[in-house]
Amino acid sequence: MLLGAATSAHQVEGKVQNDWTLWENRGKAPPVGEACRSWERMEEDVELLKEIGANFYRFSVEWSRIEPDEGRFNGEAVLRYRRFVDHLLKAGITPMITLHHFTNPIWFYATGGWLREDSPIIFGRYAAFVSSFFPDVPFWITVNEPNVFAYQGYVIGAWPPGKRSITLALKVVKNMLKAHVRAYGEIKRNVKGASVGIAHHMRVFQPVGLLGRIPAFLRDYTFNFLPVYAEVKGRILPPAGFESLGRTGDFIGINYYTKDRVRFSPKDPFGVEVYPEGVWRNSLGWEVYPRGIYETVKRFSFGKPVIITENGIATESHSERVEFVSRHLRWLKRAKGEGINVKGYLYWSLLDNYEWLDGYSAKFGIFTRTREKKGDFNIKELWERA
Ligand code: NOJ
Repeated sequence: MLLGAATSAHQVEGKVQNDWTLWENRGKAPPVGEACRSWERMEEDVELLKEIGANFYRFSVEWSRIEPDEGRFNGEAVLRYRRFVDHLLKAGITPMITLHHFTNPIWFYATGGWLREDSPIIFGRYAAFVSSFFPDVPFWITVNEPNVFAYQGYVIGAWPPGKRSITLALKVVKNMLKAHVRAYGEIKRNVKGASVGIAHHMRVFQPVGLLGRIPAFLRDYTFNFLPVYAEVKGRILPPAGFESLGRTGDFIGINYYTKDRVRFSPKDPFGVEVYPEGVWRNSLGWEVYPRGIYETVKRFSFGKPVIITENGIATESHSERVEFVSRHLRWLKRAKGEGINVKGYLYWSLLDNYEWLDGYSAKFGIFTRTREKKGDFNIKELWERA
């Protein structure tokens, strides 16, 4: 079993300049500042991984560092990640590289970003460049949570570029799925035997009342089902379009955090969320529902290997974190016992890092932002005991 933790470049590295930093500069998000300084200190993160008994680490490379201008690649930046991967491999920790984790180079953003018709081609070129440096990295995530990215940036406009249009959001999802297919091909060409997938954000949508089944279904279909179906079956479904892609997805990557309770609303086909009292919530108010990891894995594995690419809790309490992980691992083990090929689990996150609109207020880390230990945490033992 592959066990470890996950991070992303913007959230931990510091010293980045991308579309999200523009957003910060406009006062639309808290400033990232130096983050966890992992750009300088990422080798120290390997020590933390060893300390928690990890044999697996998921991190992302920052596109804006690697392709600072359109078509001009910075080999130095990739070599910095290359040194880090050598360090991981030497420590016996299997790397998983994410190519896109929400942030974009400014030139890409300024010229239309994921609405550009040629965005899949541009992304494929970037994927080809990066993967040529890592023939020994066995696991790859092309894009992280295309559904969340499109929702936040193009439906509710909370993230860059701040648009509010379902039509645009669907176009973005479609382009990201096409970009995934391109990147998939490039990685497979450069890295023999690589396992390549998408990290899908998946949620349980629980209907409230009989009519709640309608919005819960619509959410489940567009948010959970459509992207993973496109990946595995190679077909984009309406309302995103009706197009064939290549079949990809060597494993199903799942980021699982929470359940939404959804009630019918005459004003919105996607309904409204309800928040009953007395349920377990993280410090951001998200309901904690450990059984959901089991339900999700069972529903969306499509007979393929499954990797939990993220699962975690924002909390001030370390013992609550340990409890959270134990409970989720227990359900995951049950799915495995019932024949689902669960290959890995990554806790989000190794460190308290920059949580997008919530800045540094949300504490997901096993370690603090400055790498202090919060308490006992051994992922291998937690899995064995689950
Ligand atoms: C999923 C995202 O991939 C990650 O960037 C974020 O920090 C966590 N969820 C927690 O919200």
